[in-house]
Amino acid sequence: MLRIKKIDHVAICVQDVDDAIAKYKQVLGLEPQVREVVASQQTEAVLLPIGETSLELISPRGNVGLERFLEKKGPGLHHIAIEVEGIEEALATLKALGVPLVDETPRKGARGHKVAFLHPKATGGVLVELVEPDHDAPA
Ligand code: CO
Repeated sequence: MLRIKKIDHVAICVQDVDDAIAKYKQVLGLEPQVREVVASQQTEAVLLPIGETSLELISPRGNVGLERFLEKKGPGLHHIAIEVEGIEEALATLKALGVPLVDETPRKGARGHKVAFLHPKATGGVLVELVEPDHDAPA
């Protein structure tokens, strides 16, 4: 069993981060809280908190997958991130079930969280990310 906590964020891929921040502020009144270049993912990420979850704006900074996404589909919904407890166990469980994974071990994502992506074919087309705050990492 996966120990699922909540939707951590819904990610929207954008070309122009500043323009997207301005739009979400203007239209929905959302304020950016965290903005960082995530070297391990080759992305820039901005979190716009909504209650206990967030919208995440992501833009490629060398990430070929995101560049292709923008070329093919244009800006839009990219993935849903689910917070789990015990991401390594969750991945091992999914792997044992034969669920196709992009990441078999977690990588370091925005906010220093541990993240791993399932392959979109695991869910019939929706890219799902598992997230776990790294409790050992310095804040
Ligand atoms: Co994400």
